[in-house]
Amino acid sequence: MTRPVALAPSILNADWTRLAEQVGEAEAAGVDWISLDVMDGSFVPPITFGAQMASAVRSLTKLPIEAHLMVDHPEDHIGDFIAAGVNCVTIHIETTRHPHRLLQQIADHGVEAGVTLNPGTPLSKIEAVAPICDRVQIMSVNPGWGGQQFIPESLSRIRQARAMLDACGRISSPVAVDGGVNESTIAAIVEAGASWLVAGSAIYNDRETVSEAVRRLRRALERANSSAPARRKP
Ligand code: DX5
Repeated sequence: MTRPVALAPSILNADWTRLAEQVGEAEAAGVDWISLDVMDGSFVPPITFGAQMASAVRSLTKLPIEAHLMVDHPEDHIGDFIAAGVNCVTIHIETTRHPHRLLQQIADHGVEAGVTLNPGTPLSKIEAVAPICDRVQIMSVNPGWGGQQFIPESLSRIRQARAMLDACGRISSPVAVDGGVNESTIAAIVEAGASWLVAGSAIYNDRETVSEAVRRLRRALERANSSAPARRKP
């Protein structure tokens, strides 16, 4: 099944002194979502921002917004991000003893519920919650920073996550990937089964404009699609 690929720039690498402009450029360039990397300085070393930033970005764009909570005790924070108007909350399976209940609470608010896991966390850890997830996100870098190299072992994890979601009937739930998505990795990532891609430094960088960067990624996707063998019938 070929799924349309959604691009979600992470504002982590944007120029925060020009955030309204940078979000507007991404929207004008035709991206599908905006991704917010929320970091608490505990689950991951850096501290970025909280729900107030989500409210600010909500006022800047009509695009759906995803909050990627790289925070301990996410249950203490999901209410604020939902109130801020985000459309998806993605939690780390490593950060809560009650992931099933938390994902249900997110979904009960009409917000997409996503689960993600670090490169060192076995995929088996999310097996019990995959049936209630609107997406599974594979971290293809160790979380905390933009501009890192894609971890190649992530490709098999993407395949496993796709198979896991299909096996529990979540055919329409995408496998998302976050970390090191760029012109040279995007084809293999999509070929492995991902269809929702966070890109930070590949979209926000000082080499090119946002629209040029988005076009570059879309062209890489088109090249991959045109050269991919006819997909085996499921
Ligand atoms: C966790 C963050 C980063 C960011 C993407 O570290 O979630 O993965 O969004 O950064 P790039 O696309 O530059 O790897």
